[in-house]
Amino acid sequence: MEKSGSHDWMNKAEYVKEVFNHIAEHYDLMNTIMTFGMDKKWRSLAVRQVRARPGAKILDVCCGTGQLSFELAKAVGLQGKIIGLDFSEKMLAIAGQRLNEQNIKQKQDYGEIITLIQGDAMNLPFKSDTFDGVTIGWGLRNLSDLSESIEEMTRVVKPGGIIVSLDMAKPHFNIYKQLFWFYIERIVPLMGRILVKNERAYNYLFQSAKEFPSQQEIAAIFADCGLKDTRYRNLSGGVVALVSGMK
Ligand SMILES: C[S@@+](CC[C@H](N)C(=O)[O-])C[C@H]1O[C@@H](n2cnc3c(N)ncnc32)[C@H](O)[C@@H]1O
Repeated sequence: MEKSGSHDWMNKAEYVKEVFNHIAEHYDLMNTIMTFGMDKKWRSLAVRQVRARPGAKILDVCCGTGQLSFELAKAVGLQGKIIGLDFSEKMLAIAGQRLNEQNIKQKQDYGEIITLIQGDAMNLPFKSDTFDGVTIGWGLRNLSDLSESIEEMTRVVKPGGIIVSLDMAKPHFNIYKQLFWFYIERIVPLMGRILVKNERAYNYLFQSAKEFPSQQEIAAIFADCGLKDTRYRNLSGGVVALVSGMK
């Protein structure tokens, strides 16, 4: 499913969209279970890395069910703005439900801070130099062309703004590495089959993680796309990593 021609490119996008539309309802639960609840902490580190300050305007690409968008909203506050963009209508529908639930629970109108938009990460519907920062959580791995998508995020961020990707990575230590791949290849699809009756989506998770370049390579691609101060930070022993760069 590499981008060898426009036909394959379409196939990957369509396939990914179908996968996420299919698992949307169970996405958050599966995420919490398979990361042992660590995903929340990882997202909070992404919020810090993108320097989401009060009043900032941040784009959250591939926002899915909106978990990262909500963490960003807490950081930017009522003077700020978060745009959550995703192409899966079912994932966005869950994000919309979360918006309503949080409004009631936190007694705050998150609708004033967060706007959810259906759109394509490969063709962002925004003018150049619009955002103070851009995040993409577990999204890059799903896109049809890494460099093109990073260039597109670079286009919409303001000079001095930071782009942060939080995604699966490649741990270095031998036994830990083997355990990790065994878990992702065997256990997670089994959990998918038992818990959400969808093994295929979680086989895709393994495939996409395997094909995804290492965190060092992603940082190098960020630099090739013209970003400065590119770096990566391994989280939980490198099972996931934050990669960032500044325009
Ligand atoms: C693994 S989910 C990540 C959701 C969320 N960022 C989080 O932190 O949980 C990946 C999301 O990327 C979205 N996605 C994949 N390719 C996309 C594209 N080309 N344009 C927009 N969204 C895309 C999927 O619909 C899905 O919701």
